[in-house]
Amino acid sequence: MLSQIAKDNLEKDEKVLGREWLKTYNNYFSDEENIQIFIKSVKPFLPNKELKILYVGSASGLLGEKLVDSLCKGELTLVDISQKHLDQNKNDKTRKICCDLLNMDLHEKFDLIIMRSSLDYFSSEKLQVTVLEIIKNHLEKDGLFINQPAYVSSLKDRDILSEIYNETEKIGNRYFQSADLDSIYRKAGLDKFKKIGAGKDLLLTEKEHIERYKIDKEDIDKIQKIIGKDSDSAQVTEHGYILKFEFPIFLAS
Ligand SMILES: C[S@@+](CC[C@H](N)C(=O)[O-])C[C@H]1O[C@@H](n2cnc3c(N)ncnc32)[C@H](O)[C@@H]1O
Repeated sequence: MLSQIAKDNLEKDEKVLGREWLKTYNNYFSDEENIQIFIKSVKPFLPNKELKILYVGSASGLLGEKLVDSLCKGELTLVDISQKHLDQNKNDKTRKICCDLLNMDLHEKFDLIIMRSSLDYFSSEKLQVTVLEIIKNHLEKDGLFINQPAYVSSLKDRDILSEIYNETEKIGNRYFQSADLDSIYRKAGLDKFKKIGAGKDLLLTEKEHIERYKIDKEDIDKIQKIIGKDSDSAQVTEHGYILKFEFPIFLAS
């Protein structure tokens, strides 16, 4: 059964499901430098043994495949709500499970669970705690959870960016990560929380949102009003706006 939130996520992402995903936002999620930053940050923390790896909100799983290639070991399982995304993965050795993270119950545990740019799809703190609890329940006792969320350092700016997404009907609802992420993790029973790296910033303009969500002039005017005075992470421009997301990498267990 799909939760309403999962159905909404799928519907709003309609234009970028499957092959289109890795080209979205100027190839940010297939950018080799970004992928290598992730791998380099994660590697020093991994135990020297065979690893069962779960990639949640994986899309086609590119990041997980590159990690396994680089480690020369690891059994990879992908979980995503979109079968279209999962169908892009052609590796026979990789297990693909189409399910809603809010209902995930795989009856097995993993040494490593990775997530990138997906926690914000659960658009309230309460939902994020629920998802993190579900993730924790799939971790081995000494397992690691590594997450690279879409992040806005200032809480005030995080709320502005989340409001932009939540108030624009065509764009999927989001609650972005910020300086309070450690407390959200703690509520889910995940501790030993620490930052282990940082990916490149992602800069988005109205052009990327027009392409992905087909927003129009009315939406852009509304977003400019929400931004109001410029902040560190959101700036009004002559024809639209620029939004800045950071991509720090966090480890928890
Ligand atoms: C921004 S994309 C990130 C994809 C991938 N992690 C990457 O870095 O390229 C978010 C992903 O989360 C998935 N997703 C959203 N809601 C979900 C849910 N309720 N259950 C499982 N996956 C979900 C989407 O289908 C999408 O693949």
